Amino acid sequence: MKHYNDIYILGIESSCDETAAAVVKNGREIVGNVVLSQIDIHRLYGGVVPEIASRNHVEVVDKVVKAALEEANLSLSDINAVAVTYGAGLVGALLVGVSYAKGLCQAANLPLLAVNHIEGHICANYLTYPDLTPPYVCLLASGGHTAIVNVIDYDVYDVVCSTVDDAVGEAFDKVARVLGLPYPGGPQIDRLSQTGENVYPFHSVVTSNGNFSYSGLKTAVINLLHNAEQRGETLNKADVAKSFTVAAIDGPVDRLRGEAERNGARTVAVAGGVGANGYLRARMAEFERDGLRVCLPKLALCGDNAAMIASRGYYMFVKKEFSDLALNACPTLKLRGEKPHR
Ligand code: KG4
Ligand code: ZN
Repeated sequence: MKHYNDIYILGIESSCDETAAAVVKNGREIVGNVVLSQIDIHRLYGGVVPEIASRNHVEVVDKVVKAALEEANLSLSDINAVAVTYGAGLVGALLVGVSYAKGLCQAANLPLLAVNHIEGHICANYLTYPDLTPPYVCLLASGGHTAIVNVIDYDVYDVVCSTVDDAVGEAFDKVARVLGLPYPGGPQIDRLSQTGENVYPFHSVVTSNGNFSYSGLKTAVINLLHNAEQRGETLNKADVAKSFTVAAIDGPVDRLRGEAERNGARTVAVAGGVGANGYLRARMAEFERDGLRVCLPKLALCGDNAAMIASRGYYMFVKKEFSDLALNACPTLKLRGEKPHR
């Protein structure tokens, strides 16, 4: 039963290789959530093929939206607004969700909310912890972004530091490829590393000015494997996976801790696909012993989904931050507060 002052946002997400739709009540409660992954299709090519991703989004977006409404037991007339990811992501893939959302808003006379995908990832925390409110410090760890962000308010962010080259998830995927593991590499390395030891001490990914750099770590793993191959040795892949994981995760986790101490934050959170990583979650849990509140999104909400987009949309809805139907996709959209590297 819909209460007259409840706000239901329909979220739509199609920025990469997941077609997703969800209905979220009052920004915090998931009432319908459908994620259709294209991983099996892209695995054949070792990574996401943009054109194939767009075409698949076109084929299923309508079905996915209807399934989310059905799961919520609601119809379009119960929905207050449509929130759609308009960036960052693959332009063709984004355009499918944006065009579909615009059509829906036009047809059903609903307001449109243009959501930044990264801001959506941060909101996965509100769906997991209904009492969580800003301020807190967030480690953003996804396939396209790596940053420490002070979340000052729902729409005010201060990016403390970020990667100068590859993102952490990208590094996981590339290292997985050289280890001969299938796409997407992050979960594969996570699984393999659980039986490995940290025997190869790689350099920290934290640069001298406190940002992150993953290209050196990736090269170090490649060199380690090539040198062993030339000597006719076979390395234990689980040990390589574990040593890489420790180097990839320790830097951002330690920077997060440092930032929380510096600004006196009592709460830290994680956002993005790499937030599902077992080692990262274990390291974050250590902070609880020191009295910090640690927020880790539910595993199913770490990767791309539309519930997080609907949650972000809710906070735009209450501020009446509506978009017009001229909305376009913005593949290189930045997080508010993100500064260029000096
Ligand atoms: O946040 P996300 O779905 O995409 C972006 O918005 O960029 O993150 C996807 C990334 C991929 O690089 C994937 O390999 C990585 O998250 N990932 C993981 C794990 N699960 C997904 N990396 C490490 N450990 C995992 N368990
Ligand atoms: Zn994402």
